[in-house]
Amino acid sequence: MCGIVGYIGGRDAQPILLQSLRRLEYRGYDSCGIAVLASTIKVHKDVGRVEQLEKALPKNKGKLGIGHTRWATHGKPSKSNAHPHIDCSGKIAVVHNGVIDNFQQLRDKLTQEGHRFRSDTDSEVMPHLIESYYQGDLEQAVRRALVDVHGSYSLIVLAANHKELLVARNESPLVVGVGDGENFVASDVPALLDYTDRVIYLEDGDVGVITDDEIRLFNQAGEVRRETNVIPWTMEDAQKGGYDHFMLKEIHEQPRVIRDTLGGYLSAIEPEVDLGLESTEFEDILLLACGTSYHAGLVGRYLLEKVARIPVRVEIASEFNHSNAVLGETWVIGITQSGETADLLGAIKKAKQMGCKTLAITNCVGSSATRIADQTFYIRAQPEIGVAATKSFIAQLIALYLLALSQAKMDIRSREGLIRELRLLPDKVQLILDGEDGISKYGKYLSTYDNAFFVARGINFPVALEGALKLKEISYIHAEAYPAGELKHGPFALLTPDTPVIAIAAGDDTYEAMLTNIKEIKARESPVIALADEADEDIDKFVDYVIRVPSVAPIFSPVINSVVLQLLAYYAAKERGCSIDMPRNLAKSVTVK
Ligand code: AGP
Repeated sequence: MCGIVGYIGGRDAQPILLQSLRRLEYRGYDSCGIAVLASTIKVHKDVGRVEQLEKALPKNKGKLGIGHTRWATHGKPSKSNAHPHIDCSGKIAVVHNGVIDNFQQLRDKLTQEGHRFRSDTDSEVMPHLIESYYQGDLEQAVRRALVDVHGSYSLIVLAANHKELLVARNESPLVVGVGDGENFVASDVPALLDYTDRVIYLEDGDVGVITDDEIRLFNQAGEVRRETNVIPWTMEDAQKGGYDHFMLKEIHEQPRVIRDTLGGYLSAIEPEVDLGLESTEFEDILLLACGTSYHAGLVGRYLLEKVARIPVRVEIASEFNHSNAVLGETWVIGITQSGETADLLGAIKKAKQMGCKTLAITNCVGSSATRIADQTFYIRAQPEIGVAATKSFIAQLIALYLLALSQAKMDIRSREGLIRELRLLPDKVQLILDGEDGISKYGKYLSTYDNAFFVARGINFPVALEGALKLKEISYIHAEAYPAGELKHGPFALLTPDTPVIAIAAGDDTYEAMLTNIKEIKARESPVIALADEADEDIDKFVDYVIRVPSVAPIFSPVINSVVLQLLAYYAAKERGCSIDMPRNLAKSVTVK
């Protein structure tokens, strides 16, 4: 997900482009750039945030321009990979958000025709493709170029000798801001609200010609009129897409994140997983991570040992750095959303010094972890703004399912069955989100307590740990997670009517033992909220409250249960009026040991 902006009017474009880009940095911020048309097109771009770009910029006086803030998917963050991209003549500049599926074929064809590319991105084919069709009519050249393109795009095209912006949208949002004697274009509303509250949303297949006083839109059938909407949101509301917090917005993005992460590695048709990793010989696996990512690793251990029959250890990275670990032909895998967690980077370096092959599973293209590890497996969660990890955690789980499947030692039918279930997860998660109100009331109930327990068994024990961490870090309620069978060995002493217990009673081989533990807990009169399968007809008799979850194969229950616990923590924190997106004392990326 990237942010694109455009301006055409009577004012200098540069400051407007920069301000608009600042409003879109929640969509991506590893590199950025602008192009302004004065007598010629002036392009300035680099890695880093808009603030850094602004400091390096000369004052360009043009009245129209385009800009881009990037979240790298193809090609690491770099000056050459930053947008805008320009054609060979330097007379056509383009900013793009989306993925051009057939960019390699187009690049090969254009290269044969003499075009020279400067970046590793898919987006750079656009200015060259438009140039290859340009014979003086910009609109015609853009339309013709789009015929060759397969994939998702929102585009803004700037060309020398043309006092107009060409725009196009397919599966990637694009909105026009309507001004007086000026017009604006952007990926999303927040970029426009400093200048106008009147917006026109383009639809898939739309192409537009924008001048300072005219907005003409076309689709396959010819010229179209799109409704002008008046946006009631504040700027901050708009950046959160109307949600009260980035965390809630990101929880709701999880069905798409699962699809995007699967889509990068799982054939849409065949039950084939291709992680793009070089084959690595190894006897066992060591998963290293911190915080929520460590909890993902604990789930990963269950997956890899069950599906791939590989011995797996999981260690907290900061502890591994003090350990006397003995590693053989061990594949060391670091799991890190930011790719910048100092403890994790140190642990990967230590493993490399011990001669181990290393892999980084991360959300951030070009992050330090990707430069230290031998190989990288990118999740596709897009920027995660909330300090509390949510969608990145679910994406990490999906990555670990895919990794386990790629190493699977099971009959083809079982493997295909798992892949079928994996494809259903986005819809199952959506069912939970649709039932959010039912979960929020238990979050409000929890908010009245100062302590809570999370208990589970088996593959859901790491989910209990993650649920406790979510509650702790955003609501400041003290929460402990234990294997349910462990409570008797001490923690029972803490159970009172004032210590609610969240028990994950998954419909798997732990169920009967969980029921036994729940009865033991109830004997201490602690309130129990159970997460239980929608088909479970017994649980109500033993607990105080039940949160029903959609039925899934037991191996996928961590995904389902984690989303419930994210919402539980969110509503507890919201009821307490906590600073949910930026909890006290915490940072999104812990870059110090
Ligand atoms: C989780 O909600 C926290 N944000 C924190 O535990 C985080 O998971 C941890 O700091 C690891 O970060 P990383 O995944 O970027 O390495």
